[in-house]
This record gives sequence, C-alpha cells and structure tokens, in this order.
Amino acid sequence: MAGGFIEKGSSEKNYPGKLTFRVFITCVTAAFGGLIFGYDLGISGGVTSMDPFLKKFFPDVYAKEHNIKPTDNQYCKFDSQVLTLFTSSLYLAALVASIFASKVTRAFGRRLTMISGGVLFLAGAALNGFAQQVWMLIVGRMLLGFGIGCANQSVPIYVSEVAPYKYRGALNMLFQLAITIGIFVANILNYLFAKMENGEGWRYSLGLAGVPAIMIIIGAMFLPESPNSLIERGQAEKAKEELIKIRGTDDVDEEFKDLVAASEASKQVKHPWSSLLKSEYRPHLTMAIAIPFFQQLTGMNVITFYAPVLFKTIGFGGTASLMSAMITGGCNALATLVSIFTVDKVGRRKLFLEGGAQMFICQLVIAAAIGSKFGTDGNPGVLPKWFALTVVVFICIYVAGFAWSWGPLGWLVPSEIFPLEVRSAAQSVNVSVNMIFTFAVAQVFTAMLCHMKFGLFIFFAFFVIVMSIFIYKFLPETKGVPIEEISLVWENHPYWNKFVKSSAQKNKTAAPDSQV
Ligand code: BGC
Repeated sequence: MAGGFIEKGSSEKNYPGKLTFRVFITCVTAAFGGLIFGYDLGISGGVTSMDPFLKKFFPDVYAKEHNIKPTDNQYCKFDSQVLTLFTSSLYLAALVASIFASKVTRAFGRRLTMISGGVLFLAGAALNGFAQQVWMLIVGRMLLGFGIGCANQSVPIYVSEVAPYKYRGALNMLFQLAITIGIFVANILNYLFAKMENGEGWRYSLGLAGVPAIMIIIGAMFLPESPNSLIERGQAEKAKEELIKIRGTDDVDEEFKDLVAASEASKQVKHPWSSLLKSEYRPHLTMAIAIPFFQQLTGMNVITFYAPVLFKTIGFGGTASLMSAMITGGCNALATLVSIFTVDKVGRRKLFLEGGAQMFICQLVIAAAIGSKFGTDGNPGVLPKWFALTVVVFICIYVAGFAWSWGPLGWLVPSEIFPLEVRSAAQSVNVSVNMIFTFAVAQVFTAMLCHMKFGLFIFFAFFVIVMSIFIYKFLPETKGVPIEEISLVWENHPYWNKFVKSSAQKNKTAAPDSQV
C-alpha cells in the first residue's frame, strides 16, 4: 500500500493517563482561538454585501453594483478588486504575524502567543466597529490578521501537546469545530444585522469579533503551559508537576522521560528555520507546504467568503442568498462533528481520501448544473426550482466533505507530524502558506468567476484529484502515534525513509548545529 503506517510493536507506547477534566477544559479554551479565526472568515463576505457599508467606504463599488446594465454577463457582476482586497488583506497580515509568532511560541511559551493574539484581535475589532474612515478599517483588518496569525500558530500546537495521544485527533479538531462555529455565528449575525434600519448593522458585525477575542484572552490566562514548552524553557520540574495534573495520574515517568529526550534533541537545533531546509526534514517541510496549499485549493473558501455572492450570481434573491449561506455554514459545523468522532478510529488518510472523492463529485455536478443553465455568456433566463435545489444540495454535500476531511485535517496533521526541534518553525510555514493561499483565493475569486465561469469548479476539482493522489502516496497514517514517537512514521515510510535519520543513527551522531 502506498503511504506509510507505523509498525506495531516497539513503536507503540501506551502512556497511562486519561482524558481529565483539566485536559478537556484546556483544549476547549484553546479552541476558542479557532472561533476568532472562524468569525472573521465568515463575517467579511456578508459585511461587504451590506449597502450602507459599501456606500460609506466603497462608494465606487456601490455605484458599480447598482448600475449593472441588464446585458452584463452575470458571472462578472461582482468582479471588483477593491472589494476583495477588504476581505483578503487580513490574511497577508496574518502571514507576517505567524512568522514572528513562532519565535514567541518557542521562547515564551504557547500561552503568551495566544494571549497576544487575543489582545491584537480585540484592538482590531474595536477599530473596525468604530471605523469612520477607510484607514481605520484597513488598520483594524491588519490587527485582526496579526491576532489570527498568533492564534493559528500557537493553538493547534498547544492542543496537540496537552492532549493524551489517544484523543489528540479529536481534541485538536475542536479547533476546527470552533472555526466552523465562528463562521456559522458570523453568517447568522450578518443576516440579522443586515436588517437593521439605521444602516449601522455592519458595525455590530465587525465589532462583535471582540467577543471571541475576550474569551481567548481570559481562557489563556488560566491555561497551564504545556509540559513540552516548560521543558523547552528549562523548567523540567514544573513540567512534570503539570504533566501529572494533566494526565490525572502519578505514573507519568515514561512519558516525561520521552518528553525530556525529545526536548534535549531539539535543543541541539539552534536554527530551526535553516534546519527545516536539511534533507532530514524534507518530509516535514513538504507537508508544511503541501497540506495548507491543497487545503485552500479545494476551493472551500469560495463558499466561506462568497457564498452570498455566488448564490446571487446564480440567480438567488438577496434573502435567499443569505439564508443559503447560513445553511451551508450550518452543514459545515455539523459535518465537522463527524470528523471529531471518527478521526481517531478510522484515521487521517481514509478521511482525506473519502472527503476528496466527495468534493470532486460535487464540484463536477455543480459545474455541470451552472454550465447547463448559464453557458459561457452568463445569461440564464428564468431559472427553474430544480436548479436552485440541486446547487444548494450539492454545495452542502461538498461542504460536508471538506468539513470532515481537509478542513480539520489541514490543521491537525501538520500540528502532529513535526518533531519538537522544528515544530514552531514548521507550524509557521504551515500557517503562512495557508494564509498566502487564503489571501489568493479571496482576492482572485470574483475575477476567476468572471473569466473561468462555471469552469472555476472544474479548476478546483482538478486540484482535488492531485491532492488525493498526494495523500495516497505520501502521507503516513498518524492515528494513535504518540507525538514524541512521530519520527517513526517517517522512518517506516517507503518513500520518506530515505530522507529521515533513524533514531539509532540520531543517537550516534552529534547534532552539527550545536557546534555553530
Ligand atoms: C480553513 C479555512 C476555511 C475553514 C472552513 C479551515 O480549516 O483553514 O480556510 O475557511 O476551514 O471551514
């Protein structure tokens, strides 16, 4: 079989420890980091469709949208780079922040990064909620982006480190669940606030982003630091005490010993960034780039950001579009639950592959449905009921496929496959690549729709095939592997084993970095 799996036997460890209340609460609080991200992903699309908002800040766009000539191609109705920049700019700021966040995460711990993220996000939400001029919107968006960069860098790592390995997958997915809940709540609030008669609804939509920010600030203040991070920063005793509390048992010697050993190995690496370029980290670097790249090339954010625009483009009325966006948002959150309950049983690879197949089929059906009615000139005439129904149903099935595969796994898998010595740096690469392509999809979607028309869906379907083959051939299964033992999955992988050093080799060779 292509793709590796960890061999049974010597590699399987069974650290004692249960799913303590402390772990659970810890992970729930940390997952609020996901709420911040989700709320923002979901809020901007709706806000940019509110007329009072457009009139105040983007009068040109407003004029253009309301002066559409009847003969205009429907596919190009929303093609505006200024408008998409409002949505996309945040992700560039997140990109920059995630690079700095890796230093803070490594030197001062995961919690401080989370708290900083929350504070930046709170400031951004306030500035946006009270915005009077465009610069306030832009600076606010940048602060939000910095906050997201910090949270996305630290939260998945934190959860993976604190969770007992048997539940690591499910607990880590709380992060994704929080993202989808954030998106869904944003969809609902946009729908409600758009109706406010004073035309100030957008202020509430944008300003309420402060709520998840406050949750993460308060939550993170009370979180224990992860034992891995304490050891990394020379506080071994405290780390052991913490591990005992987290695991709910005194019998943590073996796990603790492995954590210390992993940390010792990681100290040898003084330059995690340049280390990442060494061939022994080739599989890690490849995954840190490929997984987020492919996650965005599923095309999911076309739905997240632009569902109302898409539904309007294909002939839905304003209210129907917002309702449909809420329905797909609800599907997204619900389907994420499926992943939470299955990921540690069926494993990551099967979910990736099943989700890929599901998305691929839906994309083809959606392309065919839109193509058959709109053709290339974008003038559909009267749209029948079956058409609306087919599109909404298949978008929901598509969203569900993403929600139990690439959505959560796009964050879970990178957070668990990197060895401690390069974990922060590699996670930064992961977040940065995610942000670059989130930015790209947000920025070019309306132009792509205008030029590629229904072929847009075939474009994303093509990438879904490529990413599924990639997973099948190159991603080892990490289900049930303790995070300290993760190097074994690479050592046992038929392709990647050429690159990684085996544990025995590592013990023999002194790390060259330590001498520099
Ligand atoms: C992705 C986001 C996406 C969200 C949708 C996340 O895992 O990173 O880009 O908007 O899932 O649910």
